[in-house]
Amino acid sequence: MLIQDSWWKGAVIYQLIPRSFADGNGDGIGDLQGLSSRLSYLRWLGVEAIWLTPIYPSPLRDGGYDITDFKSIHSELGDLAGFHRFLLVAHEHGLKVILDLVLNHTSDLHPWFQRARWAPKGSKERDVYVWSDDPTRYSEAPVLFRKFESSNWEWDEVAQQYYLHRFLKHQPDLNYENPWVQDQMLEVVEFWLGKGVDGFRLDAVPFLFESEGTRCEGLPATHRFLKKVRKRVDQSGRDILLLAEAIQPVKEAAPYLVENELHAAFNFALTAHLFSAIASGKCTNLRLCLEETKLAVPGGNWALPLRNHDELWLGDGYLVSQEVIEAIRSGLHQGHGHWLNWGINRRLAPLLNGDPRANRLLHALLYSLPGMPCLYYGDELGMGDWPGLRDRDPNRTPMAWTAARNGGFSSAPEPLLVLPAITSPGYDYRVVNVEVQKQLPRSLLNWHRRMLTCRRLLPALRHGDCEILESNHPSILVYSRSLGSMTVLIAANVSAAGASMRLDLSRWKGSRVREAIWGCEYPPADQDWFVYLASYGFSWWLIGEVENNDLSKVDD
Ligand code: GLC
Ligand code: CA
Repeated sequence: MLIQDSWWKGAVIYQLIPRSFADGNGDGIGDLQGLSSRLSYLRWLGVEAIWLTPIYPSPLRDGGYDITDFKSIHSELGDLAGFHRFLLVAHEHGLKVILDLVLNHTSDLHPWFQRARWAPKGSKERDVYVWSDDPTRYSEAPVLFRKFESSNWEWDEVAQQYYLHRFLKHQPDLNYENPWVQDQMLEVVEFWLGKGVDGFRLDAVPFLFESEGTRCEGLPATHRFLKKVRKRVDQSGRDILLLAEAIQPVKEAAPYLVENELHAAFNFALTAHLFSAIASGKCTNLRLCLEETKLAVPGGNWALPLRNHDELWLGDGYLVSQEVIEAIRSGLHQGHGHWLNWGINRRLAPLLNGDPRANRLLHALLYSLPGMPCLYYGDELGMGDWPGLRDRDPNRTPMAWTAARNGGFSSAPEPLLVLPAITSPGYDYRVVNVEVQKQLPRSLLNWHRRMLTCRRLLPALRHGDCEILESNHPSILVYSRSLGSMTVLIAANVSAAGASMRLDLSRWKGSRVREAIWGCEYPPADQDWFVYLASYGFSWWLIGEVENNDLSKVDD
């Protein structure tokens, strides 16, 4: 079946931090040159797009989300000519490139902010940011980075006023009521479109506008501005992805996904539910979240992350219920003592206590649920983290490529590395790295590659309808994905104990059933079909005969 669709529909996105991925010039800091040399790995793995965290000039007090120039490249990463070369290589490898677009704020060192604080009160220069004489304004807007800040306002000695910052105090919020600000940011979008990028991950989108008496999230004016961004993107005539980072419940993230607004949004509520399912061994709430997601935007394109460069955001009861947060708190013991702001500051593998079965299960769900699976660099290896580093740096350490010094990330002396390479027991880069895992047929890395190959061979997983099926076992989630004559049935056991159940497959009665990943034959579909799933086990079954699909072509 030929599917003409946007490149991003169901695309597998690989998130990486350029500074931590590969160092091309030996100064200890990852860069675009190093990244270019590693693109063949990403192609081999089978991802389709890469999302780069910010690459712009920045004092790096918030991992580059504090920008001083939106239209340039941080000198440690390269320059615009280097970006052009990198993009060409990425496209040659068939990889799409998504940039982080930070609309909400700048660094306090951005020339706009420096000009604003010195400009007279009420002047158009001052008006580029949100100022007030009264720091109790917008008091219903929660402080997001509560570990670091106690207020959303900061007094500026020069300006003799308070300025708003929804994030860190050195990240003043831009004033979107000001048309000049809107024009400037639309120009930024245009600038990078002109450079040939394939999409944007829109950072912190809910917070663009403020309104008294609200949480200042997702206000109508914010949606109106995002529609302008969409219009600008559409005018380019290119197939571009606009992906929202809105850490909001499904119902509140859904309005970004309307026809003339953004193409996709992360489903952070689903992420929390996935972890809570693993933590509690029960999938009742996960199932409800999937149903809710499906109803909220029928056919909606959600991006599905497990972990990313931030803490695993759980919130204060607004994103998911306290019950879900509590299940994670009490069930994921490796999270104890690692809470930061409103979430858990650990990478996936340590959070799962190094259990590759749970890693596989969670990714098997990501790779088979409707949406765009997002893989965070290193999670395909079960890479560890470095607790104790400042802020979210524990999750941002260098990629482990080989067993050589610095994990093959850089040839620089160790103290010069952007962050230390992981050496903790069980996660040491001499063991957990790409080169070693490539050579071990049963490694987590080869498993991910195989699963991504299968996903490509099973277009129902990418484009098919999803139906959540009845399950009478609290630990087993069952759903089907169907496209044309292809149906894939998926069952997943989120508990550490084995689980069995009877499934009613009478709608497919008599059809051939094969396990889709390894090709093993099962009894034909029946009203009383028996399933056994081992601890954290899952299965993908192909139902019926399928045209143009040769699973034997999947190699290890
Ligand atoms: C987003 C980013 C996070 C950053 C924040 C402020 O949440 O993911 O890393 O600190 O925005 O830009
Ligand atoms: Ca470098």
